[in-house]
Amino acid sequence: MITLHNKTFEVFIPETEISAIVHSMANQVNNSEIKNPLFIAVLNGSFLFAADIMRKINIPNCEISFIKLSSYLGTETKGEVNELIGLGKNIRNRNIVILEDIIDTGITLEKIILLLEKEEVADIKVATLLFKPEAYQKEIEIDFIGKSIPNDFVVGYGLDYDEIGRNLPHIYKLKE
Ligand code: IMP
Ligand code: MG
Repeated sequence: MITLHNKTFEVFIPETEISAIVHSMANQVNNSEIKNPLFIAVLNGSFLFAADIMRKINIPNCEISFIKLSSYLGTETKGEVNELIGLGKNIRNRNIVILEDIIDTGITLEKIILLLEKEEVADIKVATLLFKPEAYQKEIEIDFIGKSIPNDFVVGYGLDYDEIGRNLPHIYKLKE
């Protein structure tokens, strides 16, 4: 058990299981025959997942890039506006594979997909290490799911609780 910001967490997915899940996801992606994929890892949460899965991807000519979704207040009529930070180069006609640490409500994923579609990409696939089916509100199909989990708060392996806990090698859940 560990304590973060005065809350107690217990091990939920040990490092060895994470490694097996990531390996299995890499096999699925490798077998999907995506041509010249551009993997796009969503920071900060997916930094360890991206680093680990990429070492097991053997698709020729694959590339990786890192983005962050940020929001700012636009003009009065537009309200909150989202933008993708880090999407430097032209991604027109690319086959994208989004790498996410966790998909909860799906709101973040939907925003990212809308912004990528504006760039006129050829195809978008989604790979997420963790998925909370009970919380998911969207219709977007998720192509590669590492593990579906209950609607509990988890930390570790990139996932944070108020910015701490990302360095933990296991995934922990809040202890009831
Ligand atoms: P969404 O609800 O699918 O839009 O998820 C938004 C973001 O919330 C994710 O990308 C994560 O950064 C974060 N998040 C969702 N569930 C958890 C969790 O259990 N632990 C840590 N972060 C989470
Ligand atoms: Mg977060």
